[in-house]
Order: sequence, then structure tokens, then C-alpha cells
Amino acid sequence: MDAQSTQEAAGSTRRSFIRGVAQAGAGTFAAAALLDAAGVDLLADAGAVPGGRTEFSRFRAIAASSADAVEVPAGYRADVLISWGDEFGRPDGTTFTYGFNNDFLAFLPLRGKPDEGLLFVNHEYPSPFFLHGQEDAAAKTAEQLAVERYSVGNSVLHVRRPRGGGAWQVIESPFNRRITGDAPVIAVTGPLAGRSGLTIQGEDGPFQVEVGAGVAGSLANCSGGVTPWSTVLSCEENFQDYGADNYGWGGRYEITSYADYGWVVEHDPYDPASTPRKHTALGRFRHENAAYRHVRGKRFVLYMGDDSRNEGVYKFVSDRRFVPGDRANNLRILESGTLYIARWAPEGRRRFREYGDTRPITPAEGRGRWVPVREEDLVDTARNLRARFGTDTFDEHFATNRPEDLEVGRDGSVYIAFTNNDADGVNDAHGAIRRLRETDDDPTATTFTWRDYASGGPTNRRGRGTRGFSSCDNLVFDEAGNLWIVTDISSSSLRGSTEPKREYAYHRNNAVFMIPRSGPNRGVAFRFANMPVEAEGTGPYFTPDGSTLFINVQHPGEETPSRDGARPDDPQTFSSWWPDGNRTAGTGTPSKPRPSTVMVTREAGR
Ligand code: FEO
Ligand code: CA
Ligand code: CA
Ligand code: CA
Repeated sequence: MDAQSTQEAAGSTRRSFIRGVAQAGAGTFAAAALLDAAGVDLLADAGAVPGGRTEFSRFRAIAASSADAVEVPAGYRADVLISWGDEFGRPDGTTFTYGFNNDFLAFLPLRGKPDEGLLFVNHEYPSPFFLHGQEDAAAKTAEQLAVERYSVGNSVLHVRRPRGGGAWQVIESPFNRRITGDAPVIAVTGPLAGRSGLTIQGEDGPFQVEVGAGVAGSLANCSGGVTPWSTVLSCEENFQDYGADNYGWGGRYEITSYADYGWVVEHDPYDPASTPRKHTALGRFRHENAAYRHVRGKRFVLYMGDDSRNEGVYKFVSDRRFVPGDRANNLRILESGTLYIARWAPEGRRRFREYGDTRPITPAEGRGRWVPVREEDLVDTARNLRARFGTDTFDEHFATNRPEDLEVGRDGSVYIAFTNNDADGVNDAHGAIRRLRETDDDPTATTFTWRDYASGGPTNRRGRGTRGFSSCDNLVFDEAGNLWIVTDISSSSLRGSTEPKREYAYHRNNAVFMIPRSGPNRGVAFRFANMPVEAEGTGPYFTPDGSTLFINVQHPGEETPSRDGARPDDPQTFSSWWPDGNRTAGTGTPSKPRPSTVMVTREAGR
């Protein structure tokens, strides 16, 4: 496609991306009450859930389940769009294979085409067992390593549905693309691009690494975000897993010598020939996602979390302002600015007496300030800051309970999913969603207040669909402002898995919940969908017309390799057969579980 049509396509998306956030500061939002899920005096699930009205918001909440299936409420359906291993291609004959462990997902509209769009999808990490069967890193062949490198990265899919509704399909298109663990060469921007002799404060003393000026591919892509200038941000999270100690990729994947991975990568899905860019100004840590806030006249702001036990929440304030229509300016916004880490008072971590408790022993609200990160600390931000502040101070004021997604609400406040934290003395089994408000509603403020907004854990409610969520991960707001969350209780801890924990028995499989933000049920988590055995639902994303909810089903059957007698050639030893079979029901085709992208829609006539 030529430059002009790329610009047009990009321009067409701006309105839907900015929705909500551009209104920030209008002050129309009624302050949401601080709600403990256990403490809300409201209805059980006697009827459909009265959330703010959207096509998806009025459903009868469903019960927890251990079934090897995606389950949705009556009147809805869930269909697989594409699975790991499926092929898609371009008109010139180029073909691609859909990657493994789909995580982040964004639907990008195409101008004048309400029944078409682009899906940008992250493929987070490989499964040697299911990909090729060799789990011993030292014994992997070059071909097996190549299969792993191809299975991660990102996919861009051109999707279309019948006019006015129906199931989406991936179509042949010049937009289709794969980014993998070693291709293409990705540009590096910002203060650390092409630098060597960068110091990391390791546990055994300082050591030095270098950053490429151009880097082979991208990996560990967890969640992400979109920008108001129609690009996508993909976040490299567990970049430490690819060296000799784990997947065994070697070379520039060794983090003791190189710092090529662990960055936020900016992509332009509307230009399939574009070069993605890694932005060193945003720091290098276990990047979960990136959520922007734009207020006219203010510098551009991006919020990010470091998803690791006892790590922090970050804010990037760009040197530049977002200027609608000025693409040359906007594409440079993430190249220079100031990174800050949140300093929480009285402390950052929500702590409990015993693992599994639902009543914290720490305050549920407080204040904080943003502390600038020095340029020399960007290369391994968390480790260097821990060394700079000292572990005791870091743990008290900067550490949190593993930030997964952050989302900016309509009123400009930032919602942070703290998933859980099993560190000694913290004992947070179920996590909580925290709301952060900048002083004077100014995104560039250096101080803020915070309150825990909704907490995980069993609720003791009678309603079968309202018994509580645990270990929240991705968040998304719908058009009516309802908050949708997915849960990520670790696969091994789930009931029926290899190391089930009693704290999670009530929850059964991972699930999708909706939390109304207004009306009589505000603050209550209603269960909307269940995931297959040992899977996690990721990347929930509504189409702009609100008619389809895309969800990635990640790592079904993940604990299979840990089971006694598991063999890659014997489906009877797998814990999941989804989507081609249902292991718990014993129906369908006994087969490898395949991470897949699912579309949820209302059934016709409902
Ligand atoms: Fe890849 Fe933080 O989840
Ligand atoms: Ca995950
Ligand atoms: Ca996640
Ligand atoms: Ca998670």
C-alpha cells in the first residue's frame, strides 16, 4: 500500500482510539465508591446483570467451571477465529503461520469499512513440549530453536465479517504480517540505542551489557496498548527466559551480555513494510502493558507496570506533546522524555496476615509521588533502582503486588491490576484493582492519591456468578464504562492441575468478569466467561461498534509437560484438547491444545 493510503487508514482510527480518554478532566465522573467485593450490599444474580448498557453488559452471570471449554452466558456464542499453527497470507503468495500463546490483542478499524479491521496480536512465549517435543535446552537442534523463535512475536491479521454482522474471518491481504523472535531487524531509539558499557547492578555485583542499534526481532510480548496516532505498543515482559538457563537460544538473547530485549516496541500495523522501534526511554523491565493519557495542552503520558514480585509502577512523560495530524511529530513522542517510578505512602504493597486472607492489614488508600529515573538506570530499571534506594526502602515504598494491566478511565484516573504477590510477609493470594488519581487531575503531576477499588477473593455471595475473582490480569473498559477483567491464577495452582492450591478452589478455571461502574451493582464482579483447562483469557478487546468481544485463549493445557508420563505424541496424556476436543467431557478430537483467538458475539435474535 502506498504512503498516502497508509496515512488515510491511520487517520481513520483516531476517533475510536481517543474515545473516553480525550474527555479526561471534564469532571463528569461520579466518584466510584471504594468497594471490597465482600462488602457490597446488593442483589445476588437473580436476573440479568444491570450494568451500563452495551450489547454485552446485560447477561446472566455464569457459574465457575473446570470444563475444558470456553463457556459464555446464554444468548452469547464464542467461536474460534484462528489458532496456533493456522496459516494466513498475502495476495503475492507469502504465507505465515499463527504464533503460539496469543496474549495482547487490539482491533484497528479501517476507514469506511465497518465490517473489516486489523487485529494486532502478541505471541508471548513458546512451549517446547507442544512445538517440537524437546524440552532439554542443551539438546535442541537448530531447527527446533528456529521453530521456537518463529512461534513468538506478533501477528497482524486482516479480518472481515459479512455485512452488518456474523463471524469474522481472516482474509488474504497485504496487511497480514508476522514479527518473530529474530525478524525483522527492529530499530532502537532513545538514549541507550547502540550503547555499550551500560552497568547493571546484579546480585553478585555490577556487570556491563550493550544494546544494539538494530535488534533481531521481538520476544516475550505480553500485553500492550494503542496510541492516539494509530500505532500499537507491544511490551516485552519475561525477556530473561531465553538464554542458556531456560529456552537456550544463546547469542544476543543472553542477558548477562546484551540488553536487546525487555523494551516497549512501537508498531505501525497500517504499514506492513514499516520498521518497528524499541524505545529505550521507556526503561527496560518486565513490561506488561502501556496505557496512555492525553490531555490537550499537556505533555503526553504513558503508564506502565513491571510485572514481577515486589516491582513497581512507572510513568513516562514525553518531552513532546501529541499533535493530532502531525504524524512526524507523534512518531517521535516516545523517543525522549522522563521516566518516573511511583513512590507509595504509607506503603505500596497490600499485605495480609495469612496467604488467602481477604482482609488486608495495610491501609487501602494513601498518597504518593513520582520519582525520576536516571538515564543510567534505564538499562535494567528495577534492579538498578533497588540498588540505588536500598532493598528495605524499595520494598516499603516502591514495591507493589505485581502490576499487570493498567487502564486509564474516562475521568483520567488510572486503574491498576495488582494480580497477587506470594512474597514473605505480603501473602496476597487474590490481588486487587487500585485507582490512582493525579494531583489536580494533571497527567504530568509529580504527586497523586490512591485507593484500592475492587479486591479479589471469595465473596461468600450466594449468586453463582458473583463469588469473586482472583488474580486479575488484563483490564478493558466498554463504551458504557463497565470494567471487564480477566483472571490469571497460575495454571499449576488451579483445581485439577499439578499443584492445586485450596485458596483458588472456589474459582475453578480462569475467567472473564464484568464490574459495573455505576447503577445498583457497581463494584460487583459478574462472571461472563470461563476459559478451558489451565488457560488464561488475555487481550480482551471490543470492536468499536461494541458487537464483538475478541479474547485470546492463552496456554490451554499448560501444565501437561509437568504431568507424570506426559508424551508429546500421546494426546491421552494432555490436560487439555481445546479447541479441537474437550478433555474433561471426553468429546471431540484428542489433540494438542492450541492457543487461539476467540470472538464472542450475541446470538442472532437475542
Ligand atoms: Fe505476561 Fe504479566 O503477564
Ligand atoms: Ca500470561
Ligand atoms: Ca498479563
Ligand atoms: Ca498474569
